[in-house]
Amino acid sequence: MEYNEKWALITGASAGIGATFARSYAAKGANIILTARREDRLKALAVELEKAHGVKTRVIAADLANPAAPQMIFDALQAEGTPVDILVNNAGFGMPGSYTENDWTAHRAFLELMLVSYAQMTRHFLPGMLARDYGRIIHVASLAGLVPGAAGHTLYAPSKAFLISFAQSLAAECAGTGVRASALCPGFTYSEFHDVNATRGLVSQLPKYMFMEAEPVVEGAIDAVEKGQAVYVPGRWNKFVAWLSRTLPRSLSEQMVKNQSKRFRKKHA
Ligand SMILES: NC(=O)c1ccc[n+]([C@@H]2O[C@H](COP(=O)([O-])OP(=O)(O)OC[C@H]3O[C@@H](n4cnc5c(N)ncnc54)[C@H](OP(=O)(O)O)[C@@H]3O)[C@@H](O)[C@H]2O)c1
Repeated sequence: MEYNEKWALITGASAGIGATFARSYAAKGANIILTARREDRLKALAVELEKAHGVKTRVIAADLANPAAPQMIFDALQAEGTPVDILVNNAGFGMPGSYTENDWTAHRAFLELMLVSYAQMTRHFLPGMLARDYGRIIHVASLAGLVPGAAGHTLYAPSKAFLISFAQSLAAECAGTGVRASALCPGFTYSEFHDVNATRGLVSQLPKYMFMEAEPVVEGAIDAVEKGQAVYVPGRWNKFVAWLSRTLPRSLSEQMVKNQSKRFRKKHA
């Protein structure tokens, strides 16, 4: 039991990669705080984790696109004296279509969830981690943040690039303390992500070797943050793509992403 008495807060814990983080940290002995919008799912997962692993759980339903949500979560945990030792900022989705097809209200809510909530949750919980000299922060970014941007889902790749750079800065800032930060950069991962962004039909035509199950993605990320690896890319295929993007001349990697992204991004909804 590696994380006995530690508390892990996982955003977007009602499905996919977030639910997998919750199961994995609970199996390793951590108490789990689950947040997302679908409270019924969070409650069912909390019961499952308590029964399977004998850990404590806490459910806080919240819409992290609401600017008041991070403060509400922080205040609720502060009021009951529950510390956060491990923060997995994971909640997210992809918005299909070109930039002008989606209105500013939708883009603003997207940025609130994908950037601001990650930054604010970290700002709330990092001081406690530093004071206790123990903390783990994982931002769930994407391989999309490591390769050039492409048409469609316009703000998705930039939001993930922000998270990668943010995790690197945090890791550097916390060096010499007991706090470690990492950006997890998955490629295609089985979850509800492609159902939510309506690209299931497109991505189901991609070769299977491009996809990973959520479990190895999450286990690798937990290991990477323990080792102090600020940027972690899971899986051989994803590592190859990240390497190509670093190594090829910029014009070639831009062309490669331009050609390939047509296979899985909706430029027009
Ligand atoms: N799957 C992939 O291929 C892939 C690849 C690279 C990166 N990622 C990243 O991995 C992360 C998790 O995605 P996933 O693949 O696990 O997708 P998923 O199965 O669709 O899960 C997304 C989670 O985010 C939560 N969420 C979405 N909007 C929210 C909001 N406004 N407020 C609070 N929670 C919200 C959802 O819960 P509710 O709907 O209940 O709120 C759900 O728990 C995302 O950041 C995504 O960008 C995924």
